[in-house]
Amino acid sequence: MNIILLGPPGVGKGTQAVIISKEFNLYSISTGDILRESIKNNDELGKKVKNYVENGALVPDNLIIMLINQAMNANISFNGFLFDGFPRTVQQAKGLDVIFTERENQVDTVLAINADNEIIMERLLSRRICPGCGMVYNLITNPPRNGEKCDICGLELTIRKDDNRETILHRLEVYRKRTAPLLIYYKEKLIKVNGAESVSDVADNIIENLVRYSNARR
Ligand code: AP5
Repeated sequence: MNIILLGPPGVGKGTQAVIISKEFNLYSISTGDILRESIKNNDELGKKVKNYVENGALVPDNLIIMLINQAMNANISFNGFLFDGFPRTVQQAKGLDVIFTERENQVDTVLAINADNEIIMERLLSRRICPGCGMVYNLITNPPRNGEKCDICGLELTIRKDDNRETILHRLEVYRKRTAPLLIYYKEKLIKVNGAESVSDVADNIIENLVRYSNARR
């Protein structure tokens, strides 16, 4: 089963990707995480994409398609793929179609998670990340136990460079213009999910939908 998690920045795609990939044994590919790792390592890709990522602009489609191809080729033993933050343009969606056609496979379903911009703004401004293990916290909805330190590593939590009000507004605008058209591109495969609910309610809703979907395919 191959699934796309589609939705605006901060709606909870990464949070749900962790839960859903475990539940269905899917290999989760987050283009944002791959890009940030390269920036952290200051490798060739990282140098190319740093300005785009930190300013909330989209990285060029050809680079992203190359990354996706590499990640898929290296992880073929799973039950399928869960794409978090990809595709983000119609061009990327067409690129993914080509990849799947070559593999005689397909995108099965697209989970469109949504929430109001006010909720998104609050979530992103209160998101904190452990620089060691990558654990994602939220000062309001999922706070660490001890101040702003990671429960697992004890390291001081950090704020993502693109999680400031101005860049968040820009990311939301980029989503509206460049990514939201995918809701039409994938209209036959779309399952709408209310991302404003609690993490566990959103996850339950997604799991229920995916179980129903895979039973119907049998
Ligand atoms: P990316 O890393 O994909 O960022 P994003 O789409 O902006 O999404 P986020 O990671 O910010 O949010 P999320 O939806 O995963 O929310 P999360 O679960 O963390 O991309 C970053 C950049 O990389 C892009 O701007 C671009 O430059 C580049 N890029 C990436 N992919 C690209 C592509 N395909 N093409 C071109 N460029 C690309 O949750 C947010 C917070 O809310 C957390 O604190 C969490 O704990 C909390 N939370 C989550 N769910 C809930 C809930 N239900 N209730 C309460 N709190 C919740």
